[in-house]
Amino acid sequence: MSNLEQPIFAKEIISGLRARPKQLSSKWFYDERGDELFREIMAMPEYYLTDCEREIFQKCAPELHALLEGQPFDLIELGAGDGSKTQHLIEHFIAARAEFAYRPIDISAHAIDILGDLITRRWPLLPFLPVQGDYFAALDRIGSGRSGRRRLVLFPGANVGNFSPEDAAVFLQRVGKFMRPGDLLLTGFDLKKSPAKVLAAYNDQTGHTAAFNLNLLARINRELGADFDLKNWQHWETYDPISGAARSFIVAQGRQTVKIADLEETIEFEPFEAIGVEISQKYSRSEIKQLAEDSGFHFVKNFEDEKEWFLDSLWRR
Ligand SMILES: C[S@@+](CC[C@H](N)C(=O)[O-])C[C@H]1O[C@@H](n2cnc3c(N)ncnc32)[C@H](O)[C@@H]1O
Repeated sequence: MSNLEQPIFAKEIISGLRARPKQLSSKWFYDERGDELFREIMAMPEYYLTDCEREIFQKCAPELHALLEGQPFDLIELGAGDGSKTQHLIEHFIAARAEFAYRPIDISAHAIDILGDLITRRWPLLPFLPVQGDYFAALDRIGSGRSGRRRLVLFPGANVGNFSPEDAAVFLQRVGKFMRPGDLLLTGFDLKKSPAKVLAAYNDQTGHTAAFNLNLLARINRELGADFDLKNWQHWETYDPISGAARSFIVAQGRQTVKIADLEETIEFEPFEAIGVEISQKYSRSEIKQLAEDSGFHFVKNFEDEKEWFLDSLWRR
């Protein structure tokens, strides 16, 4: 986290823990330990999303490249993480001699460092221009691109699912302001499917997701001097097949009093009071087309995996 983000982290954590119901943003999951735990999640058999999207990226790269019509472009990625799937696109673009720069954005400085090592080692000549920060703070730094090259904006990994559908429309509309007419946006959506399949992806028996979610409390302990006792908290997951929302909670196992020393704050939790920590929204194909329209984009096409569990939807500004 940059020095600029530390006060934002503190402010958001306090206001989230004072809210009713208590709610923290999943963007704060990703410190060094959180990145490591997320990579373990991506490798779990239950977390089907990664393999589905890897298959899609391998298949759709030539078509994406063709749509860029041989013009130089910026490949901007929102929430790039370890970029492991995006490398399939980059590999194809390089083989096809495309002229492009890779501009990953991530709030995790650690994720950007790991990605930077990997990309510069594998493709030392590829212009690699990362921006560490929250999505729009980073996009502001990149600028509106009005006078610049074409943009292919990637928003993979079902990160869009971390917003409610209403907030996703507002978010994507705002992303559109950083694109010019004709620019392309490729967004990963996890599709509605068997509720048991969805639930298992966020509620694995090996405890990886629980450890990932509880790391948020450990991070608050580390960075704000709090004294959450992790053994008194339980990860809980729900999936509502009507709304399509999978939700993660951290639940107090009995009354808790937590001191946050650095902020001179004390937060009381009633027995079994929950903190909402993540939404992972699942979509139907019609909801995705509607979202494109609501966000001010022109729907181009969907790229799906063989199992039809996940899709990347391509829209034109
Ligand atoms: C679920 S991971 C997915 C990573 C990658 N897109 C993939 O599909 O493998 C989410 C990534 O987005 C980043 N992220 C989450 N919220 C963010 C925000 N508000 N601004 C910038 N990056 C964010 C996290 O740090 C993390 O690396």
